Amino acid sequence: MPSTGLPVAGGNGYTAGMSAFDLKQVVSARLGENYELHEKYVNPTFVKVLRTIGFDKVYAKAAGQYLWDKDGNRYLDMLSGFGVFAIGRNRPEVAKVIRDVLDLDLANMVQMDCSFLSGLLAEALVKHCPPHLNAVFFTNSGTEAVEACLKFARAATGRSKLAYLDHGWHGLSMGSLSIMGNEEFREGFGDLLPGVQVPYGDLEALDKALCKRDVAVFAFECIQGKGVRVPADDFLPKAQAICRKYGTLFFCDEVQTGYGRTGKFFAFEHWGLEPDLISTSKALSGGYVPVGAMIARRAIYQKVYHRMDRCFVHSSSFGRNNLGMAVGLATLHILDEEKLVERSATQGKKLMDAINALKPKHEVLLEARGKGLMIGIEFQEPKSLKLKMAWKMIHAANDGLFAQMVVMPLLQKHRVLTQVSGNHGDIIRVLPPFVITDEDIAYFVNALDDVLSGCHKLPGPMWDLGKNLVGAALRNKTEPVSV
Ligand SMILES: Cc1ncc(COP(=O)(O)O)c(C=O)c1O
Repeated sequence: MPSTGLPVAGGNGYTAGMSAFDLKQVVSARLGENYELHEKYVNPTFVKVLRTIGFDKVYAKAAGQYLWDKDGNRYLDMLSGFGVFAIGRNRPEVAKVIRDVLDLDLANMVQMDCSFLSGLLAEALVKHCPPHLNAVFFTNSGTEAVEACLKFARAATGRSKLAYLDHGWHGLSMGSLSIMGNEEFREGFGDLLPGVQVPYGDLEALDKALCKRDVAVFAFECIQGKGVRVPADDFLPKAQAICRKYGTLFFCDEVQTGYGRTGKFFAFEHWGLEPDLISTSKALSGGYVPVGAMIARRAIYQKVYHRMDRCFVHSSSFGRNNLGMAVGLATLHILDEEKLVERSATQGKKLMDAINALKPKHEVLLEARGKGLMIGIEFQEPKSLKLKMAWKMIHAANDGLFAQMVVMPLLQKHRVLTQVSGNHGDIIRVLPPFVITDEDIAYFVNALDDVLSGCHKLPGPMWDLGKNLVGAALRNKTEPVSV
C-alpha cells in the first residue's frame, strides 16, 4: 500500500509491550461488588436507601424495555433511566453508529474548528422545531442545557431575576437549583440566583411576579416530572401572554418531556405554545452518550455572541463531541423511522386507560394521569374505616411511604421497575421506553392490580411492609449520617 503520509491510527508505538485493559474480564470477575464499591468510594447513604427498599439488585444486561439481573431474572423497566432510554436500551442501530464514529477515526473536539457532526445534528434538530427555534447550543447534560437557557435569557434581556413554578425541577447545578421548586433540594446550598417562585397554575401571581419588568425568564415544564402535574388547558397559553406583555422570555424545559415522551415531538406542541428557548437532553442520547441542547431564537442567541471577541463566552470542552452528536443523529433517525413519537401517544393512552379501569376495584387508586408515556399514578386515602386507620398511621410517619409500599412489591414480586415520584405524596412515576408492547402493558397492569389487592388485606404483608418502612424512617431520623 502506498504511503499516504498520514499517521497510522494506533501505530504510535506507545502500546508496545503493555497489556491492554480488559473490561470484559473485569466485568466477568467482579460484577456483583457494586454495592460494596459504592458504599466505600461513592455514596454510602444511597446504598443504604437502596438496601432498605430492596432495590439493591445487580443488573447485568439490558435490551429494549427489559433488564436482567446477575441470576438471569428479567425485569420490565418502566422508568427508562428517568426518561433516557426512550428508544429502548442498547439499540444495536445506535451501537453501530458509535462503532462507525470509532472506525472513521474522525477528528474530535479540535475546538478551533467547526465540527461536521455537530452541524448536522443542529440542522436535524432545527428541522424538528417550529421555524422560530433556529439556533442550537450543545451541552453534555440536561442541567447544562438549562444553565445555557438562563444565561442566554439574562444576556438577551439585560435582566437578572428568574421566575419558576413550585415543584418545578430543572436539574441540580447552581443556576438550575435557583429555579428549583422543591425546597428540600435547595436546602443547605446557600444563596442562589435571585428568583421568584410562582404557585402552580396561579396566573395572577405570575402577573405580579413579572409586572416590574425585571424578570429575565419564566421557566417551566409543560408537564412537571415531580408529581406528573398536567396544567389546566389555559394555563400555559395565558402564562405565555403574560410573559410577552412584560418582555420576560418564555423558557420551556423539555429535558424530560422532549423527543416524544408526551406523545408529541415536544410537549409545548400540545398547547400550541411558542417558547423563546427550550432545553433538551435525556432521550437525545439514545441511551448511550450524554448530550443536551438548548434551542432558541437566533436573535436571543446572537445577544450572547454579539462581537468577535465574545464568540466563545459560553462554551464547554465536551459540548459538540462526535459521539454525542452521532447518537443524537441516530436517535432522531430511529424516532422518525419507527414512528416512535406516535407510538408513545398510542401506547401511553392504552396504559393510562388500563390503569384507570382498575379504579372501581381499588379504593386507594385515585387516577393515572399524564400524556403519552409520561404517567403518574396517584393514590388516595381509602374510605373504609380499617384501611383509613392504617393509611393515616403510615402517613403520620412519612407522607411518601405509601407509594413506596407499592413500588417495592412491584419490583420484588413482579420484577417491574418504577419509582416514587418525589419525597412527598402518594404518586408513582411511570416512564417506559416507547417500544413497550401491549403484552408489557398487560403485564404491568396485572402486577399493579395484584399489589393493590394486597392493600385490602389488613393485617397482611403489604401493611407489614409499611410498618417496617415506618420503623426504618424513624430510625433514620434519629441516626445522623456521619460525614
Ligand atoms: C425537566 C428536567 N430538567 C432538567 C433536568 C436535569 O437533567 P440532568 O439530570 O441531565 O442534569 C431533569 C432531570 O431529571 C429534568 O427532568
